[in-house]
Amino acid sequence: MNIPVIAIDGPSASGKGTVAERVAATLGFHFLDSGALYRLTALSAMKHGVALDDEAGVAALAVKLPASFRDGAVWLAEENVTDAIRAEAVGDGASKVAALPAVRAALLDRQRAYRQAPGLVADGRDMGTVVFPDAVAKVFLTASAEARAERRYKQLIEKGNSANLAALVADMQARDARDTARAVAPLKPAADALLLDTTHMGIETAVQKVLAHYDLCK
Ligand code: C5P
Repeated sequence: MNIPVIAIDGPSASGKGTVAERVAATLGFHFLDSGALYRLTALSAMKHGVALDDEAGVAALAVKLPASFRDGAVWLAEENVTDAIRAEAVGDGASKVAALPAVRAALLDRQRAYRQAPGLVADGRDMGTVVFPDAVAKVFLTASAEARAERRYKQLIEKGNSANLAALVADMQARDARDTARAVAPLKPAADALLLDTTHMGIETAVQKVLAHYDLCK
C-alpha cells in the first residue's frame, strides 16, 4: 500500500489539530483526528454508565463505536456530539480510556481504515510510532504547558465557556504525564520525526514547515 500518510503527533493544545487540518486541506488529503475517537469512546462509556477503568467494558464499546465525521460535525450514532466531546471532562476521560491496551487495540483498524487515496494527514499521540509507523513524513509538535494552557483558555473563552488558567495548566500537565507515562503507545516522538516547538511559532509557519518537510520526504 503506497498511499502517503503524514503523521502529526504531540501533546494536547500543541496546535497539531489545526496544523494537521490545514496541511490536509492544502494537499487535498483526508484528515484523521484520532483524539476524537478516544473522546467518543469516553463519551460513549459515560453515556452507557461503563466505568472508565473497566477495560473490557470500554473496549467492547470502542469496537462497535457508532462514530462518524460528516457535514463538518462529529456524530455518535445520530447524535451530533461535536461540542460535547470537547468538554474538559470528556478530554480527561479520553486520556483515561486511552491508557487501556484493549481500547487502543480496538481502535487500531478503524484508524488505519482512514488511509485512503490520495493521502492522509493523521493527528494524534502515536500516529508515527504505532498506527502508521510507515508514514512518509512524521512531525512531533510541542509547546510549553503554559503556552498550551493559554491557547486552550482562549478557545474556551471564545466559545463562551468559563475557564481558569491555573487549573488548565495543572490539567495539561496531569494529562501529559498520563499520556507520557502509560505503558502502551506513550506520547513520544518517533525516532524519525521532525520536532517543531510552536511555543513562539504561529500556526501558518508551522503549516509551512510541515509541508516543506513532506516535500523533502516524499
Ligand atoms: O488530541 P485530543 O486532546 O483530542 O485527545 C484526547 C486524549 O486521547 C489525549 O489526552 C490522549 O490521552 C488520547 N489520545 C491517544 N492517542 C491518540 C490520540 C489521542 O492516546 N492517537
